[in-house]
Amino acid sequence: MTGQQFGDYQNEIYLDGLFGRQPGLPMTFADLAARAEAALSPSLRSYVAGGAGGEHTQRANTAAFERWGLVPRMMVGAARRDLTVDLFGLRLPSPLFLAPVGVIGLCAQDGHGDLAAARAAARTGVPMVASTLSVDPLEQVAAEFGDTPGFFQLYTPADRALAESLVHRAEAAGFRGIVITLDTWVTGWRPRDLATGNFPQLRGHCLANYTSDPVFRARLAKAPEEDPAAVVREWVGVFGNPLTWDDLPWLRSLTDLPILLKGICHPEDVRRARDGGVDGIYCSNHGGRQADGGLPALDALPGVVEAADGLPVLFDSGVRGGADVVKALALGATAVGVGRPYAYGLALGGTDGVVHVLRSLLAEADLLMAVDGYPTLADLRTPGALRRVGG
Ligand code: FNR
Repeated sequence: MTGQQFGDYQNEIYLDGLFGRQPGLPMTFADLAARAEAALSPSLRSYVAGGAGGEHTQRANTAAFERWGLVPRMMVGAARRDLTVDLFGLRLPSPLFLAPVGVIGLCAQDGHGDLAAARAAARTGVPMVASTLSVDPLEQVAAEFGDTPGFFQLYTPADRALAESLVHRAEAAGFRGIVITLDTWVTGWRPRDLATGNFPQLRGHCLANYTSDPVFRARLAKAPEEDPAAVVREWVGVFGNPLTWDDLPWLRSLTDLPILLKGICHPEDVRRARDGGVDGIYCSNHGGRQADGGLPALDALPGVVEAADGLPVLFDSGVRGGADVVKALALGATAVGVGRPYAYGLALGGTDGVVHVLRSLLAEADLLMAVDGYPTLADLRTPGALRRVGG
């Protein structure tokens, strides 16, 4: 059996305890969120913690995990676990990844959180999906990945030449796949941000991939530094592209890298994506930030996996602990993404904070698989491993 034994993180922590050292970073999500939210400025706090509408979807995302339980199996001898995953020809040490979070750059105390998160990816082997909306340009983010593969998340601009430029820059920078987010061509109704009139990009934040781009710069009359207001105006005009399936052949033609479509929750959309030649499906409802329709992303996952018919399915939305990671894997996800938890880890402890969050998630997942007798991801996907609570 290969693979790191992620549960060993608890031995490190208990051993430190023998020498009177306690973890400086929180061990529960509730504590992590409370401390990080206190550390963030009010505008960032509302932007990161908030969601769409009454935040029903956001709450439903996390609550959905509580409706599933893993059936314990004994005498399995799960002394060593294997959490490795093969994805697009890459061998990953674990099925975890960092979901794209625009403004992650601002969450770090030094204002360079994209770089800090990329360094955490390098240290843990957990891939980062780097957002289009970053403080530092994608080339500089990719330079911090070390040996860990990275993926670039594209918000497809209305200007096709700009989209092409971003994708080709990502290819040149060494990204290993392109995640195209479909659910955010317009911003959802977010009362917390509306209440403070706060939207970071409109204040000129996190636009480095645009201001460093030759196609975007050519749209400006002056250099970005000389007229920051014009940058924001131009960005507003070009950011959102309400794509249709007719655009998929063009998107597919942009690159030979694996393409994943993010925001897919309906089996019919999976089938159209498959027919259009995508390489992977990313089932997500944006952590409940975009639409408050109320359906938890986890409920959509089994139907998406079935329709994907063997295509890799990435999943995020509502993952708060290692048990959630295990349940999403048992429901068929190939890899599981985490959003707000690592933003909070970053806010509290920079790269170390993200590493702690990732190691904690992996340790809990690994130990759950040990205790409940599921040593491999294939074991988790056997019929009967997961059961509806009470049903
Ligand atoms: C996001 N998300 C996101 N998604 C994306 O495709 N591009 C982006 O730039 C962003 N930006 C972003 C900012 C913030 C502050 C958050 C919290 C989220 C959505 C993200 O990739 C992921 O879908 C959710 O965060 C998953 O839900 P949880 O883990 O936060 O519940």
